[in-house]
Amino acid sequence: MKLSDEERRTLDGESGVGAQKAMELLVALGKTFDAERLIGVRKAHVALSGQEGDTYWCELLVNGGAKCAVPPTTNPCWDVDGLTKVYDVTTYERDLALRTIDVYRRIGAKLTFCCTPGLGTNVPFFGENVAFSESSATPYVNSVIGARSNRESSISALAAAVIGKTPLYGYHLDENRRGEMLIDVEAEMKDSYDWGILGYCTGAIAGARNPVLRFKKPVRPSQEDFLYFGAEAATSGAVAMYHMVGLTPEAPTLNAAFGNRQAPAPESVITDKDLSETEQKLSASTGPINLVMLGCPHYTYDQILQIERYMNGRRVHSDVAFWVLAAADAAELASRSHVRSRLERLGVYIVPDTCIDEPCWKSFEGGLGVTDSPKCAYYRERRGQPFAIRRLADCVEAAVLGRIGR
Ligand code: F3S
Repeated sequence: MKLSDEERRTLDGESGVGAQKAMELLVALGKTFDAERLIGVRKAHVALSGQEGDTYWCELLVNGGAKCAVPPTTNPCWDVDGLTKVYDVTTYERDLALRTIDVYRRIGAKLTFCCTPGLGTNVPFFGENVAFSESSATPYVNSVIGARSNRESSISALAAAVIGKTPLYGYHLDENRRGEMLIDVEAEMKDSYDWGILGYCTGAIAGARNPVLRFKKPVRPSQEDFLYFGAEAATSGAVAMYHMVGLTPEAPTLNAAFGNRQAPAPESVITDKDLSETEQKLSASTGPINLVMLGCPHYTYDQILQIERYMNGRRVHSDVAFWVLAAADAAELASRSHVRSRLERLGVYIVPDTCIDEPCWKSFEGGLGVTDSPKCAYYRERRGQPFAIRRLADCVEAAVLGRIGR
């Protein structure tokens, strides 16, 4: 791998131990993937998780004098001040969250604590090389915006942010962005929930390949629809790049999606029946619930408005907590418009800066939760809480009734 004189000096430690460690990681990654050199990036997103390993890495860099050349946006941790008033966490869990927030502040990250950077806080240009981690954010910027990011980890994205560079390999190269298999979609897409289930089906078929989706019926996905699709395709599979013919920027035509080559025959056809079978398989649970959890990925302001419409003035059942994890700007808009206070009076609470996969939610473990996100269910179930997955309208009904049926 070729390095410039300046890059070599950084690797030799002339810019401090922190920058040296970051450069060592980028060079090791580049060598692993046969990158010929490093390329500049001006945007990065770090999927900090508030877990020990990520925090250790950031501390290692910052204690070695590193500062971000490119201030990255950050994934959610959790709202320590607010949620510790409501739920029990251990001193260790609280301190780790505070340590995480502090060290990312010290390294010069933008503390956005949001997992939908491509919607507002960190939007790359078409064709721009960036370093984004977060499994729902990377497919969004690659596929919907046409920016170029590898499927970074929080570790490699932070190293890229410190150095302002990333190795030239993978999705930065034209040949790795082309479609690799074709899926025909005959199912009807009614709302973001259907896009999420479609993403889940797609990821299970595509694995780590770049799927191309061709729709039989006309569709016009929203930002939220694209987000849900990508989040779930990266949950059941490892999809970081997809094309939708006539919808995403690198797929104006079917052949363009395959790099101006002849498209292969469809490998699969996804119908309404497939979506409903996937939903049944993912979510057989029914019965009394203790939690409705929305916002994985973070809810937008428009989605919050939709909750209010479905609530229609009714109160959440007394046995149920209803939390909406939202981008900070969405939560702020909801406060300014008084939607937030109106929802709170009904028992629906909006919390910014917070991920579903954090220790603050552990008091619900053992009971049944309801969500509109298979990704949320996947992570929460690993922590001991089964989840039913339903579309938003049904999640709201479950919140009001205190139970979920079929
Ligand atoms: Fe966001 Fe956490 Fe879900 S980062 S996408 S709320 S797992």
